[in-house]
Amino acid sequence: MGRIEGKVALVTGAARGMGRSHAVRLAQEGADIVAVDLCASLDTAPYPGASSQDLDLTTQLVEQFDRRIIARQVDVRDSKAMQAVVDESIAELDHIDIVCANAGIASFGFSWELSDEAWQEIIDVNLTGAWKTAKAVIPHMIERGQGGSIIFISSVAGLIGVPTMAHYTASKHGVVGLMRALAVELARHDVRVNTVNPGNVDTPMVDNAPTRQIFMPDLRDPTREDAERIMKEMSALPVSWLDPREVSNAVLFLASDEARHITGITLPVDAGMMIPNKLK
Ligand SMILES: NC(=O)c1ccc[n+]([C@@H]2O[C@H](COP(=O)([O-])OP(=O)(O)OC[C@H]3O[C@@H](n4cnc5c(N)ncnc54)[C@H](O)[C@@H]3O)[C@@H](O)[C@H]2O)c1
Repeated sequence: MGRIEGKVALVTGAARGMGRSHAVRLAQEGADIVAVDLCASLDTAPYPGASSQDLDLTTQLVEQFDRRIIARQVDVRDSKAMQAVVDESIAELDHIDIVCANAGIASFGFSWELSDEAWQEIIDVNLTGAWKTAKAVIPHMIERGQGGSIIFISSVAGLIGVPTMAHYTASKHGVVGLMRALAVELARHDVRVNTVNPGNVDTPMVDNAPTRQIFMPDLRDPTREDAERIMKEMSALPVSWLDPREVSNAVLFLASDEARHITGITLPVDAGMMIPNKLK
Protein backbone atom coordinates (compact mmCIF):
# COMPACT_ATOMS: atom_id res chain seq x y z
CA MET A 1 0.00 0.00 0.00
CA GLY A 2 1.53 3.32 -1.09
CA ARG A 3 1.73 6.37 1.16
CA ILE A 4 -0.82 8.26 -0.97
CA GLU A 5 -2.75 5.31 -2.42
CA GLY A 6 -5.92 6.32 -4.26
CA LYS A 7 -5.13 10.05 -4.34
CA VAL A 8 -4.93 12.16 -7.48
CA ALA A 9 -2.12 14.71 -7.81
CA LEU A 10 -1.86 17.63 -10.22
CA VAL A 11 1.78 18.52 -10.97
CA THR A 12 2.72 21.50 -13.13
CA GLY A 13 6.01 21.72 -14.98
CA ALA A 14 5.91 17.93 -15.09
CA ALA A 15 7.73 17.34 -18.40
CA ARG A 16 11.23 17.29 -16.91
CA GLY A 17 13.41 18.23 -13.96
CA MET A 18 11.79 18.32 -10.55
CA GLY A 19 8.23 18.26 -11.90
CA ARG A 20 8.83 14.92 -13.59
CA SER A 21 10.46 13.63 -10.43
CA HIS A 22 7.47 14.73 -8.28
CA ALA A 23 5.00 13.09 -10.68
CA VAL A 24 6.93 9.81 -10.72
CA ARG A 25 7.53 9.75 -6.94
CA LEU A 26 3.86 10.47 -6.18
CA ALA A 27 2.79 7.77 -8.66
CA GLN A 28 5.22 5.34 -7.06
CA GLU A 29 3.35 5.84 -3.78
CA GLY A 30 -0.04 5.20 -5.34
CA ALA A 31 -1.35 8.47 -6.81
CA ASP A 32 -2.84 8.99 -10.24
CA ILE A 33 -1.30 12.01 -11.93
CA VAL A 34 -2.43 15.05 -13.86
CA ALA A 35 0.74 16.33 -15.56
CA VAL A 36 0.79 19.83 -17.03
CA ASP A 37 3.63 21.47 -18.93
CA LEU A 38 4.13 24.26 -21.46
CA CYS A 39 6.56 22.12 -23.51
CA ALA A 40 8.10 25.16 -25.17
CA SER A 41 10.87 27.67 -24.60
CA LEU A 42 10.11 30.90 -22.77
CA ASP A 43 11.01 34.25 -24.33
CA THR A 44 13.37 35.48 -21.61
CA ALA A 45 14.87 32.29 -20.13
CA PRO A 46 18.48 31.81 -21.28
CA TYR A 47 18.12 28.01 -21.59
CA PRO A 48 15.87 25.82 -23.78
CA GLY A 49 12.44 24.77 -22.56
CA ALA A 50 10.97 21.29 -22.28
CA SER A 51 9.51 19.39 -25.24
CA SER A 52 6.45 17.24 -25.84
CA GLN A 53 8.83 14.24 -25.91
CA ASP A 54 9.86 15.14 -22.35
CA LEU A 55 6.22 15.05 -21.27
CA ASP A 56 5.77 11.71 -23.07
CA LEU A 57 8.65 10.27 -21.07
CA THR A 58 7.04 11.45 -17.81
CA THR A 59 3.86 9.69 -18.93
CA GLN A 60 5.74 6.44 -19.57
CA LEU A 61 7.53 6.61 -16.22
CA VAL A 62 4.25 7.15 -14.34
CA GLU A 63 2.56 4.31 -16.24
CA GLN A 64 5.36 1.96 -15.19
CA PHE A 65 3.79 2.12 -11.73
CA ASP A 66 0.38 1.18 -13.17
CA ARG A 67 -1.02 4.58 -12.33
CA ARG A 68 -3.31 6.59 -14.59
CA ILE A 69 -2.01 9.85 -16.01
CA ILE A 70 -3.58 12.73 -17.88
CA ALA A 71 -0.77 14.74 -19.50
CA ARG A 72 -1.55 18.01 -21.25
CA GLN A 73 0.45 20.82 -22.82
CA VAL A 74 -0.93 23.79 -20.94
CA ASP A 75 0.52 27.16 -19.94
CA VAL A 76 0.00 27.86 -16.23
CA ARG A 77 -0.51 31.52 -17.18
CA ASP A 78 -3.67 30.56 -19.07
CA SER A 79 -6.55 30.43 -16.54
CA LYS A 80 -9.06 28.97 -18.99
CA ALA A 81 -6.74 26.20 -20.14
CA MET A 82 -5.81 25.38 -16.53
CA GLN A 83 -9.48 25.19 -15.56
CA ALA A 84 -10.20 23.00 -18.59
CA VAL A 85 -7.52 20.44 -17.71
CA VAL A 86 -8.66 20.40 -14.07
CA ASP A 87 -12.32 19.91 -15.09
CA GLU A 88 -11.36 17.18 -17.58
CA SER A 89 -9.26 15.41 -14.93
CA ILE A 90 -12.02 15.52 -12.30
CA ALA A 91 -14.49 14.15 -14.87
CA GLU A 92 -12.13 11.29 -15.67
CA LEU A 93 -10.35 10.60 -12.36
CA ASP A 94 -13.17 11.77 -10.05
CA HIS A 95 -11.18 14.07 -7.79
CA ILE A 96 -7.92 15.95 -7.16
CA ASP A 97 -6.43 15.70 -3.67
CA ILE A 98 -2.92 17.08 -4.18
CA VAL A 99 -1.62 20.07 -6.10
CA CYS A 100 2.09 20.58 -6.67
CA ALA A 101 2.56 23.98 -8.31
CA ASN A 102 6.07 23.44 -9.58
CA ALA A 103 6.27 25.11 -13.02
CA GLY A 104 8.85 27.85 -13.06
CA ILE A 105 11.56 29.65 -14.98
CA ALA A 106 14.74 31.53 -14.14
CA SER A 107 16.68 34.32 -15.77
CA PHE A 108 19.51 36.52 -14.58
CA GLY A 109 20.67 40.13 -14.36
CA PHE A 110 21.15 42.87 -11.80
CA SER A 111 17.78 44.29 -10.79
CA TRP A 112 18.39 47.66 -12.43
CA GLU A 113 19.38 45.99 -15.70
CA LEU A 114 16.47 43.56 -16.07
CA SER A 115 14.18 44.18 -19.01
CA ASP A 116 10.49 44.75 -18.35
CA GLU A 117 9.84 41.54 -20.29
CA ALA A 118 12.17 39.44 -18.12
CA TRP A 119 10.61 40.82 -14.92
CA GLN A 120 7.07 40.25 -16.17
CA GLU A 121 7.61 36.75 -17.52
CA ILE A 122 9.11 35.54 -14.23
CA ILE A 123 6.27 37.03 -12.17
CA ASP A 124 3.63 35.71 -14.59
CA VAL A 125 4.93 32.13 -14.62
CA ASN A 126 6.37 31.66 -11.12
CA LEU A 127 3.87 33.63 -9.05
CA THR A 128 0.69 34.27 -11.03
CA GLY A 129 0.89 30.80 -12.62
CA ALA A 130 1.12 29.23 -9.14
CA TRP A 131 -1.97 31.18 -8.05
CA LYS A 132 -3.88 30.20 -11.20
CA THR A 133 -2.96 26.55 -10.63
CA ALA A 134 -4.29 26.59 -7.07
CA LYS A 135 -7.34 28.65 -8.03
CA ALA A 136 -8.40 26.08 -10.63
CA VAL A 137 -8.58 23.31 -7.99
CA ILE A 138 -9.57 24.99 -4.70
CA PRO A 139 -13.35 25.25 -5.36
CA HIS A 140 -13.40 21.50 -6.12
CA MET A 141 -11.52 20.72 -2.89
CA ILE A 142 -13.90 22.85 -0.84
CA GLU A 143 -17.01 21.43 -2.48
CA ARG A 144 -15.82 17.84 -2.13
CA GLY A 145 -15.19 18.37 1.58
CA GLN A 146 -12.41 15.84 1.97
CA GLY A 147 -9.50 18.19 2.46
CA GLY A 148 -6.41 18.36 0.31
CA SER A 149 -2.76 19.34 0.15
CA ILE A 150 -1.36 22.18 -1.92
CA ILE A 151 2.41 22.36 -2.23
CA PHE A 152 4.07 25.30 -3.90
CA ILE A 153 7.65 24.90 -5.08
CA SER A 154 9.27 28.12 -3.94
CA SER A 155 13.06 28.25 -3.46
CA VAL A 156 15.70 29.37 -1.00
CA ALA A 157 15.15 32.55 -3.03
CA GLY A 158 11.73 32.65 -1.37
CA LEU A 159 13.44 33.10 2.01
CA ILE A 160 16.68 35.01 1.32
CA GLY A 161 17.85 37.50 -1.29
CA VAL A 162 19.71 36.12 -4.30
CA PRO A 163 21.80 38.53 -6.38
CA THR A 164 21.15 38.84 -10.13
CA MET A 165 17.76 37.24 -9.50
CA ALA A 166 15.66 40.04 -7.97
CA HIS A 167 12.64 39.17 -10.13
CA TYR A 168 12.98 35.46 -9.33
CA THR A 169 13.52 36.26 -5.65
CA ALA A 170 10.42 38.48 -5.62
CA SER A 171 8.36 35.79 -7.37
CA LYS A 172 9.46 33.08 -4.94
CA HIS A 173 8.88 35.31 -1.89
CA GLY A 174 5.49 36.01 -3.45
CA VAL A 175 4.77 32.29 -3.58
CA VAL A 176 5.51 32.09 0.17
CA GLY A 177 3.08 34.95 0.80
CA LEU A 178 0.45 33.28 -1.36
CA MET A 179 0.92 30.04 0.56
CA ARG A 180 0.54 31.83 3.91
CA ALA A 181 -2.71 33.53 2.90
CA LEU A 182 -4.15 30.33 1.41
CA ALA A 183 -3.14 28.30 4.48
CA VAL A 184 -5.27 30.61 6.64
CA GLU A 185 -8.18 30.73 4.18
CA LEU A 186 -8.34 26.98 3.61
CA ALA A 187 -7.57 25.51 7.05
CA ARG A 188 -11.28 25.28 7.97
CA HIS A 189 -11.75 23.15 4.86
CA ASP A 190 -8.93 20.84 5.96
CA VAL A 191 -6.91 21.88 2.92
CA ARG A 192 -3.26 22.22 3.89
CA VAL A 193 -0.96 24.63 2.07
CA ASN A 194 2.84 24.62 2.32
CA THR A 195 5.95 25.50 0.34
CA VAL A 196 9.05 23.46 -0.36
CA ASN A 197 12.11 25.69 -0.73
CA PRO A 198 14.86 23.89 -2.65
CA GLY A 199 18.50 24.95 -2.84
CA ASN A 200 20.56 23.95 -5.88
CA VAL A 201 19.00 20.97 -7.65
CA ASP A 202 20.38 19.07 -10.62
CA THR A 203 17.85 19.95 -13.34
CA PRO A 204 17.99 21.50 -16.84
CA MET A 205 17.17 24.88 -15.26
CA VAL A 206 20.59 24.95 -13.60
CA ASP A 207 22.67 22.44 -15.56
CA ASN A 208 22.95 24.29 -18.86
CA ALA A 209 25.78 26.16 -20.57
CA PRO A 210 24.24 29.69 -20.65
CA THR A 211 23.44 29.58 -16.93
CA ARG A 212 26.91 28.27 -16.06
CA GLN A 213 28.48 31.11 -18.02
CA ILE A 214 26.34 33.70 -16.21
CA PHE A 215 27.37 32.31 -12.82
CA MET A 216 31.04 31.94 -13.73
CA PRO A 217 31.74 34.90 -16.04
CA ASP A 218 35.51 34.65 -15.48
CA LEU A 219 35.72 31.09 -16.85
CA ARG A 220 35.57 30.28 -20.53
CA ASP A 221 32.95 27.59 -21.23
CA PRO A 222 32.61 26.49 -17.59
CA THR A 223 31.84 22.81 -17.16
CA ARG A 224 29.39 20.87 -15.02
CA GLU A 225 32.35 20.08 -12.71
CA ASP A 226 33.06 23.83 -12.30
CA ALA A 227 29.42 24.33 -11.32
CA GLU A 228 29.58 21.47 -8.83
CA ARG A 229 32.64 23.02 -7.17
CA ILE A 230 30.86 26.37 -6.67
CA MET A 231 27.67 24.75 -5.44
CA LYS A 232 29.59 22.68 -2.90
CA GLU A 233 30.93 25.95 -1.49
CA MET A 234 27.33 27.12 -1.03
CA SER A 235 26.24 24.02 0.93
CA ALA A 236 26.90 23.28 4.60
CA LEU A 237 26.58 19.54 4.01
CA PRO A 238 29.29 17.97 1.83
CA VAL A 239 27.23 17.95 -1.38
CA SER A 240 27.09 20.17 -4.45
CA TRP A 241 23.58 19.96 -5.78
CA LEU A 242 20.66 17.81 -4.81
CA ASP A 243 18.99 15.07 -6.77
CA PRO A 244 15.42 16.11 -7.75
CA ARG A 245 14.13 13.04 -5.93
CA GLU A 246 15.24 14.52 -2.60
CA VAL A 247 12.88 17.44 -3.17
CA SER A 248 10.17 15.05 -4.34
CA ASN A 249 10.46 13.19 -1.03
CA ALA A 250 9.60 16.44 0.78
CA VAL A 251 6.66 16.99 -1.60
CA LEU A 252 5.50 13.42 -0.95
CA PHE A 253 5.67 13.93 2.82
CA LEU A 254 3.61 17.13 2.67
CA ALA A 255 1.14 15.46 0.29
CA SER A 256 0.65 12.46 2.56
CA ASP A 257 -1.38 11.97 5.72
CA GLU A 258 1.93 11.84 7.62
CA ALA A 259 1.77 15.65 7.40
CA ARG A 260 -1.96 15.91 8.07
CA HIS A 261 -1.58 18.57 10.73
CA ILE A 262 1.14 20.55 8.98
CA THR A 263 0.07 23.70 7.19
CA GLY A 264 1.49 27.14 6.56
CA ILE A 265 5.16 26.10 6.66
CA THR A 266 8.17 26.69 4.44
CA LEU A 267 10.30 23.54 4.18
CA PRO A 268 13.85 24.14 2.94
CA VAL A 269 15.56 21.22 1.16
CA ASP A 270 18.89 22.95 0.64
CA ALA A 271 21.81 20.96 2.12
CA GLY A 272 22.16 23.70 4.74
CA MET A 273 22.69 26.46 2.17
CA MET A 274 20.91 28.99 4.37
CA ILE A 275 22.81 28.17 7.59
CA PRO A 276 24.68 31.43 8.20
CA ASN A 277 27.93 30.11 9.70
CA LYS A 278 29.39 27.20 7.77
CA LEU A 279 32.50 25.31 8.85
CA LYS A 280 34.42 24.22 5.77
N1 LIG B 1 16.78 23.66 -10.06
C1 LIG B 1 16.96 24.38 -8.97
O1 LIG B 1 18.09 24.50 -8.47
C2 LIG B 1 15.78 25.04 -8.29
C3 LIG B 1 15.98 25.55 -7.01
C4 LIG B 1 14.91 26.11 -6.33
C5 LIG B 1 13.66 26.15 -6.91
N2 LIG B 1 13.48 25.65 -8.18
C6 LIG B 1 12.14 25.69 -8.72
O2 LIG B 1 11.71 24.37 -8.97
C7 LIG B 1 10.72 24.36 -10.00
C8 LIG B 1 11.12 23.33 -11.05
O3 LIG B 1 12.31 23.77 -11.69
P1 LIG B 1 13.38 22.79 -12.36
O4 LIG B 1 14.66 23.08 -11.74
O5 LIG B 1 12.86 21.41 -12.41
O6 LIG B 1 13.41 23.45 -13.84
P2 LIG B 1 13.15 22.86 -15.29
O7 LIG B 1 13.38 23.99 -16.22
O8 LIG B 1 13.91 21.62 -15.50
O9 LIG B 1 11.60 22.47 -15.24
C9 LIG B 1 10.59 23.45 -15.18
C10 LIG B 1 9.41 22.95 -15.98
O10 LIG B 1 8.39 23.95 -15.93
C11 LIG B 1 7.84 24.07 -17.22
N3 LIG B 1 7.23 25.39 -17.40
C12 LIG B 1 7.86 26.59 -17.49
N4 LIG B 1 6.99 27.55 -17.72
C13 LIG B 1 5.76 26.97 -17.78
C14 LIG B 1 4.46 27.47 -18.00
N5 LIG B 1 4.24 28.78 -18.23
N6 LIG B 1 3.43 26.60 -17.97
C15 LIG B 1 3.63 25.28 -17.77
N7 LIG B 1 4.86 24.76 -17.57
C16 LIG B 1 5.91 25.59 -17.58
C17 LIG B 1 9.01 23.86 -18.14
O11 LIG B 1 8.58 23.51 -19.47
C18 LIG B 1 9.75 22.74 -17.46
O12 LIG B 1 9.34 21.46 -17.87
C19 LIG B 1 10.66 25.79 -10.53
O13 LIG B 1 9.58 26.46 -9.93
C20 LIG B 1 11.97 26.38 -10.05
O14 LIG B 1 11.89 27.78 -9.93
C21 LIG B 1 14.52 25.11 -8.88
